[in-house]
Amino acid sequence: MRVLKWLLLVSFLAVLAPAILVHGQETKKAGTIDELARMYDSSSCKACHLKIYETWEKSIHSQSLVGTPRTLATLKNFITDALMGEWKYSGVKKVEDIKVEHMATCFSCHLPQIKNATDKVAQDLAKAILAGDKDTLNKVSINCVVCHNNKAITHKWVDGEIQPKTVYGALVAGVHPGKKNPGIKKSPVMDQAILCGQCHGLGPNFEFHQPTQCATLYGSYLHAYIPSGGNKNCQECHMADIKIGRNLAVKDHLIPAYRDKAQAAKAVELVVETRSYQFLPKAGDWVPTAELTVKMFNKAGHRIPDG
Ligand code: HEC
Ligand code: HEC
Ligand code: HEC
Ligand code: HEC
Ligand code: HEC
Repeated sequence: MRVLKWLLLVSFLAVLAPAILVHGQETKKAGTIDELARMYDSSSCKACHLKIYETWEKSIHSQSLVGTPRTLATLKNFITDALMGEWKYSGVKKVEDIKVEHMATCFSCHLPQIKNATDKVAQDLAKAILAGDKDTLNKVSINCVVCHNNKAITHKWVDGEIQPKTVYGALVAGVHPGKKNPGIKKSPVMDQAILCGQCHGLGPNFEFHQPTQCATLYGSYLHAYIPSGGNKNCQECHMADIKIGRNLAVKDHLIPAYRDKAQAAKAVELVVETRSYQFLPKAGDWVPTAELTVKMFNKAGHRIPDG
């Protein structure tokens, strides 16, 4: 009888286990770009968070593989000149040799969801990069689900794993009206600089087989701005409140920088002092002279320019 009980338990677990695995985001890999886009679909958020959606759509995060579009050009060079060229031990001679780990050299920040995709998706994205196919590349990006789910917990041995079908915000926990994401939890980092620091970088990424360095701004924030008395976080300077009703405001998801005139104007304080006098090198030879002192103060929360 006891053996039977155990057998029942084991077979029950055998049936249950794959279901748990399929639900967990980590284990289910997308086989096509469209599948990956569906897995991280943010289009449903638009119906209820319209203003946020509209500002995000205009942001560079919404086209993180195309970028300014210097990004797309550099990604192309990365594949042809680095992976297939100078990096002679990369194992890549043609697109079909590309694996997720190769593209993760850039995508771990430009498209973190690549970890949920197969090598075929990495190859298809590489093909789209080489063809300059922006429409295909823009199907996937740093969207609502990346920040409000994937990147919402940094210290997983303290705060636990990210739960699927859940949105993480800065404030509330409970039931979320979004049908596709019925859970809502408070993220310990949503209103902290470290949320952004996960991609905005500290320096060379030594976790890669071939360390590279793209964005280093979080290093400059942590090691220069904060020690010299800075007390704002990224969100306070980059995500202002936008009024959408008399008593209602949302955070600006355009997250502007130097390409936005108003944000660029906040970057540097210029103090100019002038003094005029006459200089007398020799008797009777009065030379009118002006002295100009220009002081520039960096008002951003980090080195500028920076990446
Ligand atoms: C998942 C990674 C990731 C996260 C998280 C992230 N960023 Fe970014 N961010 C990027 C990438 C990649 C780019 C550059 C895209 C490009 O130019 O190709 C970028 C670009 C930017 C820019 C330049 C915008 C412009 O218009 O030129 C700003 C400012 C910025 N991010 C601020 C933030 C702030 C503030 C946060 C946190 C609230 C944040 N980012 C979170 C990856 C991320
Ligand atoms: C550690 C995370 C990270 C990695 C890894 C990374 N990037 Fe970036 N990248 C960013 C962020 C964040 C920005 C935005 C910084 C800014 O606008 O100042 C950015 C900006 C860029 C830009 C500049 C866009 C512009 O015109 O301002 C290019 C080009 C770029 N990345 C290409 C690459 C390539 C190619 C790789 C792989 C070899 C790569 N990145 C790897 C995070 C990363
Ligand atoms: C680059 C990361 C990032 C992306 C992408 C992003 N968010 Fe946010 N969002 C944040 C951060 C950070 C906050 C909290 C800012 C704070 O409280 O200081 C926030 C706040 C919010 C809030 C609550 C505060 C408010 O504005 O009312 C909602 C709702 C929200 N986001 C929805 C969305 C939706 C919908 C999308 C996609 C269209 C999206 N977010 C994309 C980082 C992001
Ligand atoms: C049917 C409408 C609806 C849809 C669809 C929806 N939301 Fe929400 N969401 C809400 C409402 C209403 C709240 C406020 C809940 C509260 O305050 O208890 C909210 C709250 C949030 C918050 C928390 C804000 C905070 O203050 O902490 C985030 C983050 C968020 N939504 C993101 C998303 C994302 C991302 C999507 C798409 C995947 C989405 N929502 C889809 C209606 C919706
Ligand atoms: C005290 C306000 C302030 C804080 C704090 C701050 N920023 Fe900025 N940031 C700015 C201003 C102003 C600019 C525009 C600078 C310019 O014109 O280049 C800027 C520019 C940027 C850029 C464009 C890079 C460049 O070369 O100009 C990125 C990316 C960025 N910030 C991300 C972040 C992130 C991520 C954090 C948090 C780790 C952060 N910022 C904290 C004010 C701030």
